[in-house]
Amino acid sequence: MVAHDFEGKVALVTAGASGIGAATALGFASAGAAVLIADINEEDGSAFVEQLRNAGHRAAFFGGDVTLEEDVEAMVAAAVKTFGGLDCAANIVGGMDGGDFPGNYVVESTVEQWDGTIVANLRATWLSLKHEITYMLDHGGGSIVNISSLAAYLGRSDASVAYAVAKAGIIQLTKTTASLYGAQGVRVNAVAPGLTATEGVKASLTPEQQIPRGHVIPRMVEPSEIADAILWLCSDGSAMVTGQTMPVDGGWSAR
Ligand SMILES: NC(=O)c1ccc[n+]([C@@H]2O[C@H](COP(=O)([O-])OP(=O)(O)OC[C@H]3O[C@@H](n4cnc5c(N)ncnc54)[C@H](O)[C@@H]3O)[C@@H](O)[C@H]2O)c1
Repeated sequence: MVAHDFEGKVALVTAGASGIGAATALGFASAGAAVLIADINEEDGSAFVEQLRNAGHRAAFFGGDVTLEEDVEAMVAAAVKTFGGLDCAANIVGGMDGGDFPGNYVVESTVEQWDGTIVANLRATWLSLKHEITYMLDHGGGSIVNISSLAAYLGRSDASVAYAVAKAGIIQLTKTTASLYGAQGVRVNAVAPGLTATEGVKASLTPEQQIPRGHVIPRMVEPSEIADAILWLCSDGSAMVTGQTMPVDGGWSAR
């Protein structure tokens, strides 16, 4: 990971118990931030927090479902109560839900699959923004990063149609939110990962599929490489960057 300095800052990471979220939480903690890890998976989340604390980092766990407004409100309150504020947030929860699956397109999708995936990505990200920004507006601003996907840019990706549409929606949500609150000190950006080597993704692919055909650089993205982009977008180094979505996709979107 690239070195950053988040000493004295408080960061909130949703989906922080595994994959890209865990890499991001580790990145913030290693850079000196106090980190609230929010995840629906209490067992993995608590174990990861213990690991971080044993390594000398400041970390706490919040168990909740970020598609539910009461949980999101409580999550932001927990960051403030535990660590005294909220400076940065990485809204990483997303994926396919409601029985939706990769390669599920327009004709085949059901209402349950469509709604499940739209809620898992768009409602979760909007609710997180709503409550993070409500706090930040009254406390000197902050910097937030959402997670889109390379699927948002492709006419036909290997993801489901609902996932591609939801991740494209996150690009717009990022622009709109950045435009609304930038003057009040809140920056909002997004990262659009290419195929990223989380445990779940690796387990679902054959060795041949693990060299993504779309990436110009012929390997998967490491979760720590997505975390690097998120940390930079949260840092003062990107002070004049807002409303942007940064692809970290081995050049796929450049093709
Ligand atoms: N891995 C990839 O190749 C890839 C590519 C593009 C975009 N993304 C996006 O990156 C994000 C993270 O993906 P990942 O591969 O690291 O996932 P992952 O499956 O490794 O981790 C997801 C985490 O989110 C938690 N979670 C799920 N729903 C939740 C909810 N409603 N509330 C709280 N926690 C919840 C899970 O318990 C899990 O710990 C997702 O938004 C995904 O769409 C991933």
